[in-house]
Amino acid sequence: MSFFKQTINTVPLQGQTVLVRVDYNVPFNKDGTIGDDFRIRASLPTIKRLLSDNCKVVLISHCGRPEGRDKKFSLEPIAQRLAQLLGEQVRFCDQTIGDKVKMAIRRAPKKSVTMLENLRFYAQEEANDETFARQLAQDTGARYFVQDGFGVVHRAHASTSAITHFLPSVAGLLIEREYTTITKTMRDPQRPLVAVLGGAKVSDKIGVIQALVSVADTIIIGGAMANTFLAYKGKAMGTSLVETGQEDTLNKIYAAATEKVGADKVDDFLVLPTDAAVGQLPPLDDNRRITSIDSIGENEKALDIGDKTIEKMVDLIVKAKTVIWNGPLGMTEYPAFTHGSARLALTLATHSEITSIIGGGDTADFVLGWDARGGESFTHISTGGGASMELMAGEKLPGIESLLDAHS
Ligand code: 3PG
Repeated sequence: MSFFKQTINTVPLQGQTVLVRVDYNVPFNKDGTIGDDFRIRASLPTIKRLLSDNCKVVLISHCGRPEGRDKKFSLEPIAQRLAQLLGEQVRFCDQTIGDKVKMAIRRAPKKSVTMLENLRFYAQEEANDETFARQLAQDTGARYFVQDGFGVVHRAHASTSAITHFLPSVAGLLIEREYTTITKTMRDPQRPLVAVLGGAKVSDKIGVIQALVSVADTIIIGGAMANTFLAYKGKAMGTSLVETGQEDTLNKIYAAATEKVGADKVDDFLVLPTDAAVGQLPPLDDNRRITSIDSIGENEKALDIGDKTIEKMVDLIVKAKTVIWNGPLGMTEYPAFTHGSARLALTLATHSEITSIIGGGDTADFVLGWDARGGESFTHISTGGGASMELMAGEKLPGIESLLDAHS
């Protein structure tokens, strides 16, 4: 499938100054070190490609949600990690616009990388401010803008939207890979396609659930989201997290599912847990118990899918050609409640013939923590949380829509 936007492969970038938007919104440990560099690693192909074209690369990103300038959210440690991963010097400028930026970029040679400070130190970034975007373009002296921050393209901000009014704007290699992988899987999957949905809330994922009801052959529901489905079906869920006010949404989901597969098959299509690992929080070794969904105690919480549900899930997964997984199946913050998610990860990792597409920030974090191969055990782990869900739901992403069309 060819990509519908121009990319760094379709414009003459040789020797140019190129402004590149990446998404380095990475988690930090309490000691200030980077918790996970997946998003930094994902940006390397585009940067390396631009360096091989002798470009002066200027990187811009946000990190966190700072209110004004706040050292805690500085990109400087990220520049250092990037330099290690790239094996090249990364010049860091502690401003994002202004004279210091002009000077730093003027001094940088061709075939170099300069990273500017956090875009969100300026309120104009999230306000999608045209003046700020123009200044970014002018002060960096860039000839082209490259959008490669897939995780942030669902936001219409100065560095994802307004900037494209001031520079010819094309996609980087990460954007192209994320977009084509996810949309191809949603439009034309190898079947059977099994979707596994978890996480806390139905309301966060309505668009994705609706899209998957239409495209998937089977949907397995886990995580706290399953509690809401089970409560809707009349099950007593004890003190489990159940999202209230979702009856209308679930009525619609079941109506669409029934129309697709018929009333007699709907429970084979939307597969809910039949048992759960229940316990209390914080978990103690002796309070984890597997129980049927029909006998959850009044004071018990369902915190993971149970063993029978895990076996059923594995049976369905090994027959699939494509698996889309979005949302952890239990409280993966606690090892006692990672069994369902870990077994799913293991099944996908040991069945390399299955195309596995993993999306959503928490699911990616879990899988990357689990996988000793840094995510290589899966076909595609999306760097986007909200962005991947909106793309799966068929929504248009402002940061991609605003790029030059492939035919232009
Ligand atoms: C993300 O981590 O989802 C993106 O970097 C976007 O961040 P935001 O939700 O703070 O806009």
